[in-house]
Amino acid sequence: MADQVATNITWHEGTVTREERQKNLGQKGATVWFTGLSGSGKSTVAVALEQVLMQRGKHAYCLDGDNVRHGLNKNLGFSAEDRAENIRRIGEVAKLFADAGMITVASFISPYRADRDAARALHDESKLPFLEVFIDCPLEVAEERDPKGLYVKARAGEIKGFTGIDDPYEAPERAELLVRTDKLSVAESVQAVLNLLDERGLLTA
Ligand code: ADX
Repeated sequence: MADQVATNITWHEGTVTREERQKNLGQKGATVWFTGLSGSGKSTVAVALEQVLMQRGKHAYCLDGDNVRHGLNKNLGFSAEDRAENIRRIGEVAKLFADAGMITVASFISPYRADRDAARALHDESKLPFLEVFIDCPLEVAEERDPKGLYVKARAGEIKGFTGIDDPYEAPERAELLVRTDKLSVAESVQAVLNLLDERGLLTA
């Protein structure tokens, strides 16, 4: 958790309520947090989910590790500290998006349980839904897919500290959903997440 550095700052409350926002948008905001190894299918399922939600008239937005690291988090690398800061910032951004009424799909390896739990805690404090989805497949399958050719480089020692090879991945212990992408198609994976959203009443206004 980052320390508060600025002093002499005062929270300024708005007058638009969450209920008013929900009514205008016809939906409730929430964060769907995808965690899993590189190559597990997080971005693929997230993009397909975003598309289906859009087709159903829902406002959805994907926050993706590789993309966010091109902008907001371009000054962060892959040390444990930088990954923690990456997830802290995204936890805050996802919370803002969810508060604004978006169904926010955050896809980050987010290898450390404590960092994911901190993102969850932020949402809990603000009474915003946070659904952790473990996008899982065996390491061998992710390595076989190797969509960006990074596992080959990591095995060759050209990338140090690569998650699953020489850097840890702490699997979730209390994820709301487990999606085995080596057993389910992309469409089935999307459906599993939609079912979860539906169960939680997040597909109705
Ligand atoms: S996280 O660990 O901080 O959550 P994030 O999801 O933002 O990671 O970024 C992961 C992406 O960065 C991977 O999908 C991969 O394309 C790329 N990458 C580059 N170097 C590494 C590394 N050492 N470990 C994991 N992913 C890496």
